[in-house]
Amino acid sequence: MKSIIILSFILSIISFSNGTIVKCTSASCSSLNNNCVNHYCNPRAGCYGIDKCVRIDACHIVSCDLNNGSCINTKANCDDGDPCTDDFCHNGYGCFSLPNNKHPSVICQKNCNDNNPCTDDFCDFTNTCQHTLKNCEDNDFCTIDSCGPNGCVHTNISCDDNDPCTSDFCSIMYGCYHEQIECSIKVPCSTDIECNRYNLCETYTCDLISNICKYSTKFCNGFPCINNECMTGVIYN
Ligand SMILES: *[C@@H]1O[C@H](CO)[C@@H](O)[C@H](O)[C@H]1NC(C)=O
Ligand SMILES: *[C@@H]1O[C@H](CO)[C@@H](O)[C@H](O)[C@H]1NC(C)=O
Repeated sequence: MKSIIILSFILSIISFSNGTIVKCTSASCSSLNNNCVNHYCNPRAGCYGIDKCVRIDACHIVSCDLNNGSCINTKANCDDGDPCTDDFCHNGYGCFSLPNNKHPSVICQKNCNDNNPCTDDFCDFTNTCQHTLKNCEDNDFCTIDSCGPNGCVHTNISCDDNDPCTSDFCSIMYGCYHEQIECSIKVPCSTDIECNRYNLCETYTCDLISNICKYSTKFCNGFPCINNECMTGVIYN
């Protein structure tokens, strides 16, 4: 009997859109696009912009040419102006300085290589080997960074939220995000908890008159909620 009721709910699909506040559409947001910023729609919060240009690593700063969308990565200047340090750049964590061998009483000459691909090895100004854990952070929120026998490993994350009512994307700036899409399957329910889709960007309740789940987007002070988190940034409306 229950399965017949569920089937009849599924067959009585009309649309998901009643009760949804639609502040924007993909088309209205993409009209804000320029050569440097793509805009996306969060139907409740409005359009939001994501820069197209990404810095290639922590040793560069990036800018975007509005005329032709060219991304310009410029090497960071790591010079700290201190003659007692040598200045370096590590593409994971950026500029750093080490005391140099110009200290009068110390000559650093050890080979500090420990053959561990997960450490950075250097000889400090007291002629002592130092091994610091390699920083594998690649500034890409779509990967999980770890270190293994061959050094840094960057593993893609899956953004699939198993929710037929969202399209799933990954942005290297924000990680996973999920755009609500029109969803024609109404979820039958008798208690609120049956409506839980484990999406912290929405609130859910079971409408006890229709026995159909009702979802609404979590209120984030006007900002989109992406990947279970309220975003901050620039909203164009
Ligand atoms: C974009 O414009 C800048 C400045 O005029 C120029 O230096 C650059 O070469 C252009 N890039 C492309 C791909 O046309
Ligand atoms: C990881 O994701 C990137 C960007 O989407 C893609 O180019 C690459 O092929 C993926 N790598 C693997 C092993 O799936």
